Amino acid sequence: MPTGQELHAIPSDETLSAVSRGKELSPATASVADTARVAATVLAPTLRGGVIKRRPRAMALADRLQLDRPGIRLLGRLRERYGERPLQLRIPGRSVTVLLGHADAGSVLARTPSPFTPATLEKKAALSHFQPHGVLISDDGNRAARRGFNEQVLEPGRAIHDLAAPWARRIAERASQPAAPELDWDKFNTRWWQLVREITLGGDTAEDRELTDLLGALRLDANWAYARPKRKQLRNRFLDLVRQQVALNRPGSLAAAVNATPADAATDPAGQVPHWLFAFDAAGIATFRTLALLASHSQAGAQAHAEATAADPSEPRQLPFLRACVLESVRLWPTTPALLREAAEDTAWGRKGTTYLVSTPFFHRDAQRLPYADRFEPGIWLDGRAAEQPALVPFSAGPGACPGRDVVLFATSTLLANLLRRYRFTVLDKRLRPGDLPATLDHFTLRFALEPAG
Ligand code: HEM
Repeated sequence: MPTGQELHAIPSDETLSAVSRGKELSPATASVADTARVAATVLAPTLRGGVIKRRPRAMALADRLQLDRPGIRLLGRLRERYGERPLQLRIPGRSVTVLLGHADAGSVLARTPSPFTPATLEKKAALSHFQPHGVLISDDGNRAARRGFNEQVLEPGRAIHDLAAPWARRIAERASQPAAPELDWDKFNTRWWQLVREITLGGDTAEDRELTDLLGALRLDANWAYARPKRKQLRNRFLDLVRQQVALNRPGSLAAAVNATPADAATDPAGQVPHWLFAFDAAGIATFRTLALLASHSQAGAQAHAEATAADPSEPRQLPFLRACVLESVRLWPTTPALLREAAEDTAWGRKGTTYLVSTPFFHRDAQRLPYADRFEPGIWLDGRAAEQPALVPFSAGPGACPGRDVVLFATSTLLANLLRRYRFTVLDKRLRPGDLPATLDHFTLRFALEPAG
């Protein structure tokens, strides 16, 4: 079983592109018409769906029209036309370059934060609505200390976190609560957030919704980035609540780990927690989609059931197959469809300030390169096939990769194991055709019938 570290390793010299070996190919320049096409089919649907908080109506429309597919096809056609080199768009007043080569995408992520910083203009504008000191939008001065702090608390590279035992017990308790014969997103999501509050802040926060409701409101503002003024009072109320909750130091929570980890004031330890709460939303979405994949693929479903029933999931343990299934759900439907980096200095590709876009739906579903592009193939995360691909990056890659990935993979795989032990799930629609999976999957409208597992 590869560790989280191996799964998201920095690409080797072999997989790195010419740019990182010092033989940079200068970018091609897109025609005005191609720039307009990228804006309409790649950028606009991502923004419309809600980058920071998904919008149910926009997601339903995107699913009906399969809005991710035209963007994937367009970038493939542009690669045929312009070659694998980066493609600079013609956007007045901004320098934006789309990466079309897998190796280039891996290379940019590997060269984070210098010269390519993750703290881009757009991310700062959006995320500062609710996490002004988060590592992802921190500039050079604070980034290293905040990144180090996140790694110490979240323990990337360790499949079983120090706090995994109390989390596994909580997850088993939640999964054993009585369930209605039908499971929809609202029911799942209510329980998911109870768990997120318990894991992040501790035991008796399960029913305390004020903090996460405030976060929800601020995230809707964040979708608009600079187009919506900050609601400073609301943000201060939210950040104060986070600080108060973290200070309560409840045992078994990430908050307790925050308090036990030395940090200077500039790191703002409690100020890292808003990003974690926000990002657990993506983990809930990924879990729900994984459930749908397993329910509609009988062989993988049986393998997952066998893993789930092999031992008591209220004890923390490695669940390699279920972890791979969650990774595969995020490959198929990336929760960060636009990975952005900004050049902090002039590079051979362009001037300082240029924004680089790694469109994950394009790379993850690249049928020209991946025989399994539109199939559910969890095995790629276990047999080395995914690791050979520098642009299969559900949790990003390199020094800016998600430090929460092993917490996520532990929590989601453990929850899935508990659910699969108890119930047989049937998806109540026919969207997930094995072998030809949709490019867009609206999780809000997924529904399952539940029967006790035999
Ligand atoms: C399915 C769930 C998740 C996915 C797919 C995911 C994916 C990602 C991705 C793609 C990035 C890079 C973003 C960028 O470069 O713009 C990222 C960054 C980050 N993630 Fe996650 N994430 C998830 C959940 C979490 C959770 C639950 C936590 C914390 C408990 C977390 C903590 C972070 C942090 C702190 C960063 C910023 C890292 C940095 O700037 O160095 N993530 N995540």
